[in-house]
Amino acid sequence: MSVLENPVMRSEGRDAGASFDQIILSRFACRNFTDRPVSRRMVEDILDVARFAPSGANIQPWQVHVVAGAQKERISNALVKAHHEARDQHVAEYTYYPAELPEPCLSRRGQFGHLYYSSLGIARSDAEARANQTAKNYTFFGAPVGLIVTIDRRLAVGNWLDLGMFIQTVLLAARARGLDSCPQETFAKYHLLLREMLPIPAEQMVVCGVSIGWARDEARQSPRLMPRADVADFASFTGFD
Ligand SMILES: Cc1cc2nc3c(=O)[nH]c(=O)nc-3n(C[C@H](O)[C@H](O)[C@H](O)COP(=O)(O)O)c2cc1C
Repeated sequence: MSVLENPVMRSEGRDAGASFDQIILSRFACRNFTDRPVSRRMVEDILDVARFAPSGANIQPWQVHVVAGAQKERISNALVKAHHEARDQHVAEYTYYPAELPEPCLSRRGQFGHLYYSSLGIARSDAEARANQTAKNYTFFGAPVGLIVTIDRRLAVGNWLDLGMFIQTVLLAARARGLDSCPQETFAKYHLLLREMLPIPAEQMVVCGVSIGWARDEARQSPRLMPRADVADFASFTGFD
């Protein structure tokens, strides 16, 4: 039985005694939050533990802008407007997907699109409904707190590994406190607008946003939407008895 099929392992991760595996398995990309506030103290605690993520030579290349309240609204309004009126005029400073995605990634992305839009009742051909759904990214899916994560543009691809480790640690530290989250590369596209509203130094590149908040019950109660490949599909073992 895989961990995902095990009812114990799939159970809620909200209580302090939950095992770390439960915290990992109960994290999902939440796209439907309540407006219940998340305190500054809670976010500070999450970042305070996430800063112990590993990084090569301990360079700790992460920078985070935490937004809430009126400032978050201002950012959301500007980005939603740009998404509806001028999205062709904005481009991220880095490439998230290569122009030609190789297999098996290509098929997995196709499966993601199918599962994601069909779960929302949106037809693949309905460009307007898809665009409206994408716009919800910029409202942080209703979450009360958003992070805008940046990295020094002079750093190299290896240092982005460090950043990924940090971001996942943030997501898990949030989950350990009963919170849900969604990492979002969509924010990178609007770095010029974000620079107008946040003190992002010129040498910093906007990598992604992260929504943090409390999932609506219907979001948390629905079964895991996105499957994973089996261990045998990505790992090989050698030298064991
Ligand atoms: C670096 C990164 C960027 C992502 N960007 C977005 C995004 O812009 N919008 C979104 O809705 N989900 C985004 N996701 C969430 C993924 O779609 C999600 O993690 C994946 O489909 C697996 O689903 P799960 O996290 O619920 O298991 C992103 C995830 C990662 C790790």
